[in-house]
Amino acid sequence: MKGAALSFLYAASSVGVIVGQSGSGSLSEVPYYGRSPPVYPSPIGNGSTSARWAIAYSHAHALVSQMTVEEMANVTRGWAGACAGNTGEVPRLGIPALCFSDAPDSVRGQEFVSAFPAGIHLAATFDKDLMYRYGRALGDEYHGKGINIALGPVAGPLGRVVRGGRNWEGLSNDPYLAGVGMGAVTRGIQDAGVIATPKHWLLNEQEFRRRWSSVGHAISANVDDRALHELYVFPFMDALREGAGSVMCSYQRANHSYACQNSKLLNGILKTELGFEGFVVSDWDGQMSGVASANAGMDLVMPNAGYWGANLTQAVRNGSVSDDRISDMATRILAAWYYLHQDKGFPPRAVYSNTQRHPVVDVRDDHATLIEKIGAAGTVLVKNVNNTLPFKKPRFLCVYGYGATLSASPWQNPARYGGGYEVNFRWNTLNGTLITGGGSGGSSPPYVVSPFQALQERVTKDKGILRWDFWSANPAATPYVNADACLVFINAYASESFDRVSLTDEFSDQLVLNVAGMCANTIVVVHSTGIRVVDAWISHPNVTAVLFAGLPGQESGHSLVSVLYGVVNPSGRLPYTVAKKESDYGESVLNSTVSFDQFPDQDFSEGLYIDYRAFDRNKTIEPRFEFGFGLSYTTFAYSTFKASLVNDEKLGEFPDGKVAVVQGGHPDLWETVAVVTCTVANTGKVHGTEVVQLYVGIPPPARGEERDTPVRQLRGIERVGPLAPGQEDDQVIFRLTRRDLSVWDVVAQQWRLRRGEYMLWIGASSRDLRLDGSLVIT
Ligand SMILES: *[C@@H]1O[C@H](CO)[C@@H](O)[C@H](O)[C@H]1NC(C)=O
Ligand SMILES: *[C@@H]1O[C@H](CO)[C@@H](O)[C@H](O)[C@H]1NC(C)=O
Ligand SMILES: *[C@@H]1O[C@H](CO)[C@@H](O)[C@H](O)[C@H]1NC(C)=O
Ligand SMILES: *[C@@H]1O[C@H](CO)[C@@H](O)[C@H](O)[C@H]1NC(C)=O
Ligand SMILES: *[C@@H]1O[C@H](CO)[C@@H](O)[C@H](O)[C@H]1NC(C)=O
Ligand SMILES: *[C@@H]1O[C@H](CO)[C@@H](O)[C@H](O)[C@H]1NC(C)=O
Ligand SMILES: *[C@@H]1O[C@H](CO)[C@@H](O)[C@H](O)[C@H]1NC(C)=O
Ligand SMILES: *[C@@H]1O[C@H](CO)[C@@H](O)[C@H](O)[C@H]1NC(C)=O
Ligand SMILES: *[C@@H]1O[C@H](CO)[C@@H](O)[C@H](O)[C@H]1NC(C)=O
Ligand SMILES: *[C@@H]1O[C@H](CO)[C@@H](O)[C@H](O)[C@H]1NC(C)=O
Repeated sequence: MKGAALSFLYAASSVGVIVGQSGSGSLSEVPYYGRSPPVYPSPIGNGSTSARWAIAYSHAHALVSQMTVEEMANVTRGWAGACAGNTGEVPRLGIPALCFSDAPDSVRGQEFVSAFPAGIHLAATFDKDLMYRYGRALGDEYHGKGINIALGPVAGPLGRVVRGGRNWEGLSNDPYLAGVGMGAVTRGIQDAGVIATPKHWLLNEQEFRRRWSSVGHAISANVDDRALHELYVFPFMDALREGAGSVMCSYQRANHSYACQNSKLLNGILKTELGFEGFVVSDWDGQMSGVASANAGMDLVMPNAGYWGANLTQAVRNGSVSDDRISDMATRILAAWYYLHQDKGFPPRAVYSNTQRHPVVDVRDDHATLIEKIGAAGTVLVKNVNNTLPFKKPRFLCVYGYGATLSASPWQNPARYGGGYEVNFRWNTLNGTLITGGGSGGSSPPYVVSPFQALQERVTKDKGILRWDFWSANPAATPYVNADACLVFINAYASESFDRVSLTDEFSDQLVLNVAGMCANTIVVVHSTGIRVVDAWISHPNVTAVLFAGLPGQESGHSLVSVLYGVVNPSGRLPYTVAKKESDYGESVLNSTVSFDQFPDQDFSEGLYIDYRAFDRNKTIEPRFEFGFGLSYTTFAYSTFKASLVNDEKLGEFPDGKVAVVQGGHPDLWETVAVVTCTVANTGKVHGTEVVQLYVGIPPPARGEERDTPVRQLRGIERVGPLAPGQEDDQVIFRLTRRDLSVWDVVAQQWRLRRGEYMLWIGASSRDLRLDGSLVIT
């Protein structure tokens, strides 16, 4: 075990053992800053939060009451086996080994499975229904393979660090958009009968030194309580609310206490405040102590015994871990199993090593159709001069760039992860079209339809011609004067285990400039794991159209071509802000924190102000493309703004104190307190779908005081249409919940619905605001 040598330091870390440096600047003077308050004992799950959990717990209790301590210690640990994670079985009681598998966008490493778009691409659709269907289809594939537990969806990292290596696995750095996706995908996966594992709980915002290594301890994410709740906890609430049966704790430290033994995060926020009834599983080899992790609320160690197994049995015998605690650990695991009805005829396990001949279990159904649809819906058009797109029957196209075709092998992605001291590798691009990122969040595509393949299919049908040059840095030696358009394909790669070192790369920027220098109608397609700055060429007069094509999964080319040719009118929106230059994001969140101290710190001193929240505060820095931005081939008019409070009698400052918490938080938080409506009309010449966004400005703490909250925050998304030219939808409805309008009150330790005037804006992006109004809560 990698952590063994230093683990004693942390045997009681959550009880306020302070090691290393405290946070920087004035924050370090705040009492408890940089230390995690102790929260013990670990809450015992009892199923009280819903009828369905109650039934699951009654079965689990009946089973656990027959188990010996050894048997409990067996189901709470991992064993080597066919799956990425396998719990211990208890043959005596018919308890099977439970199977865990990556990843959030594919059943990773198996044959005859689909490669879905990555989380960031799904978020760019801004479409709740597609998010649910994604989760359901993915869940059906896990189920078909006999896998009990899917390791996703992801909201940690949220995306605080602009160059973070794993931001693409999750949905968006906006907690509301991420939360909508976390809820919908969790519901989808679990409707398929598979346990979802929202991860990584919590604050795993960078890859550099995310884990203990020979250099020293993992980075400590030090975050104030308000930003913790309003940004980082927020999207997990949605997943819990939808019944998530499992949560994965993360590698790094939070306020100096390792996340998998952080009693504040596990016992406190997750199991008390959010009423979590399921089990907490460690990230792989993320356990850093035995007794401390058990008592802090971790329930299952993966992928082996870690510090538990026989030692956990002994710790129970000598009283260091209570009988109640180990029973609770086993009960939570089995309750999740019953909650998903996996005791009733789960499909046989069909997880294999592909180096050995094995039966074919094809679980793909017609998910390719959904994948293509999401691929197109998440494609974002950001520039389209003089209606260059959609194509109007071009006869002659030129295709340039490494991103148009397949890499030598899709399995040569540099997927580097594992332990140790992790450096920033200098990989900026993948030499081949990019459909997902690297590491454990990657996919196992059955095939990949490259952009070039799909263009060939279309051009063949149209009896046109193509010329291509994928590999030259300067294809200017071959100007085809008769071409209707030139397409240039570039990408931006990222992976688990290292952070990006740039949001651009010289080779690709120069390639675009070279093509634009010879071709008056140059269309740039960027496949990216997240933010990619484009100012090297975005204003070039010959760059007529630009698409952020995301990480679209196996049907990549089909999705793209349908947008290029107008079969699908683009409605994707950026789930992040694209700055003009990298430094515009602010030094503190651009790079991961690089430190070679033994106890490195990462202070989240920007608080709530990441991405558009920071740009909106700074009135001097204009983004290149703001959060929520994306063009269409048609135009939309917005009208008839209406807003009203509902449930007037339930507008107290705090949730009703007499009502118990359910999984996901206090039930009042999810109640609708206001309704906002508008009308959207298609005023252009073609069919189109519009992503309508609602932003809220929360009033200051008290009348006359300064605002202490971002100018505006996303609190509603509705994907409207498709609408025919001239058609309107006068029923665009946003339901604002108590949580949507609340702030986290650090003194009351509750969500607080402030008194005062709430500003409301409806728009097509975070800056293209078309309607506004307000609501007053007194
Ligand atoms: C971290 O410390 C801050 C400042 O004291 C505190 O507000 C917050 O609740 C702590 N969070 C955790 C997870 O320990
Ligand atoms: C169940 O657990 C919750 C949270 O710990 C607690 O508030 C409640 O009293 C418990 N109910 C029973 C019946 O034990
Ligand atoms: C523990 O689990 C392993 C692996 O599934 C199994 O071989 C063993 O029999 C189990 N032990 C007990 C005590 O049930
Ligand atoms: C238990 O503890 C001993 C001694 O601390 C250690 O050698 C062993 O690897 C631990 N793990 C298990 C599963 O027994
Ligand atoms: C109890 O057992 C655990 C696991 O072997 C060990 O780490 C701990 O030190 C023991 N505690 C006491 C008081 O003996
Ligand atoms: C766009 O159209 C205008 C007006 O017709 C023309 O002046 C301009 O050159 C066109 N731009 C491009 C890039 O074709
Ligand atoms: C990319 O791959 C192609 C084809 O496999 C190869 O010819 C080219 O040299 C590679 N480029 C780089 C920069 O590795
Ligand atoms: C961010 O990273 C880049 C590239 O590694 C480096 O040049 C720059 O100095 C870093 N900036 C900060 C503030 O650390
Ligand atoms: C745009 O493309 C034309 C070729 O059609 C070329 O002559 C011209 O120099 C290009 N413009 C720029 C600014 O590179
Ligand atoms: C805006 O950003 C600029 C450049 O980073 C900085 O100099 C300025 O102080 C910022 N202004 C505000 C109000 O944050």
